[in-house]
Amino acid sequence: RIAELKAINDMFQNIEHFVSLDTLLQEVVDEAIRVTGAEGGSLMLINKNGKKLSIKTARNLHPLISLETKIKVGEGIAGHVAKTQEPLVLNGLRDPEFKESLKREDIVSAISVPMKAGDELIGVLNVNRKKVRVEFTEENLNVMNAFASQAAEAIEKAGYYQKIERLSITNDNQFKEFTKALAKTVDAKDPYTYGHSEAVTNYTLQIAEEMGFNEEKLRLLEIGGRLHDMGKIGVAEHILNKPGGLTDEEFKEIQRHPEIGARILQDTSSLKGIRDLILYHHERFDGKGYPTRLKGKDIPLGARIMAVADTFDAMTSHRAYRKALSRKVAVAEIKKCSGTQFDPEVVDVFLKVLE
Ligand SMILES: [Fe+2]
Repeated sequence: RIAELKAINDMFQNIEHFVSLDTLLQEVVDEAIRVTGAEGGSLMLINKNGKKLSIKTARNLHPLISLETKIKVGEGIAGHVAKTQEPLVLNGLRDPEFKESLKREDIVSAISVPMKAGDELIGVLNVNRKKVRVEFTEENLNVMNAFASQAAEAIEKAGYYQKIERLSITNDNQFKEFTKALAKTVDAKDPYTYGHSEAVTNYTLQIAEEMGFNEEKLRLLEIGGRLHDMGKIGVAEHILNKPGGLTDEEFKEIQRHPEIGARILQDTSSLKGIRDLILYHHERFDGKGYPTRLKGKDIPLGARIMAVADTFDAMTSHRAYRKALSRKVAVAEIKKCSGTQFDPEVVDVFLKVLE
C-alpha cells in the first residue's frame, strides 16, 4: 500500500506537465479505479457558490447519467458526502439510506469520498463495482481517501495553472500571428513607420530580459510592443503623414492614440496588462507625459521600458518630417533624457543591451 501511495505521489509531482485540467481529472478517475480495483467512477466538482456538484469526468458511468448532470449538495450519495465531508463506503443493497440509488444503478458496492484542498471542499470522487460482486473493504476506502486528498491538491494547482495558461495568450500561435498582422496594419497607415512596432518589441524584450522579467511578463510585453500604437487606427491619415510641423490641434489628435488603443481593448479583462502598456507608453518619468501624466514608478515598468524602446527606434528611423538620426546621436539623446523623460534604471540597462 505504501508503494501504491508513492506511485500516486510521483504522479502528482509532475503536475505542471499536465496540459489541461480535463486530462488531469480523467487521470484521477482512472487512478482511483485502479487503486481500489473498481470498475467505474466519476469525479464531481463543486460549483462556486458551493451548492451544486457537477460531474466533470467519468468512466463506465451509467449511460443515462450524462456529464451535464448536476447534483444538489445534500442530495443522493455524492451530495451527502459533499455535505458531511466524510468518506462513505456503501455495500450492496444492504445500505438502508441509499439502497434505492444503488439498486437503480445496479451497483454492488461504492466508495464516495470528499476531495479537499486544504480545508476547502472542491469536489467528490466516486468509484463503484457492478459486475464484480465483491464489496469494497475499509482498506479500499483508506487508500481512496488518501488518494483523493492528494488529487484535490493537484486539481487545485492545475486549475491555477490553467488560469495562467489562459492569460498567456501568446502561447497561442494564431493569436501571435494575429497581433503581428494588426501591428502591420497600424504601421501601414504611415509608410515611414513600417516595421516600427516590431522593432519596438525587439528592443523592449531585450531590455526586459536583461532586467529579469519572467516568461509570462515577457509574453505580455511582446504583445504590448506589437500593439502599442494600435490606437493610431483612429487617427486621421493626413495628420499622421503630414510632412511639416503639426498644429496644436493636430498634435492633440495624435496624442489621443494611447487612449484610443486602450479603449479598443477595454472589455477584455485578460488583456489588462497589455492595455496598460498601450495606455502609458507615452508617459514620462518626470510626469510630463500623456495621457494621464503618471509619474516615476507609478508608470508600469513595462511601459517605462517601452518608452525608451519606442523613442530610440523613432529617432533612428526615417520620418515624414526628418531623416533618421544616427545611432550615436540617438544614444546621446536617450542619455540626455535619463531621469526626465526616461527611468534612469531602464536607460542604464538599455545602454548595456546596445553595447
Ligand atoms: Fe505611440
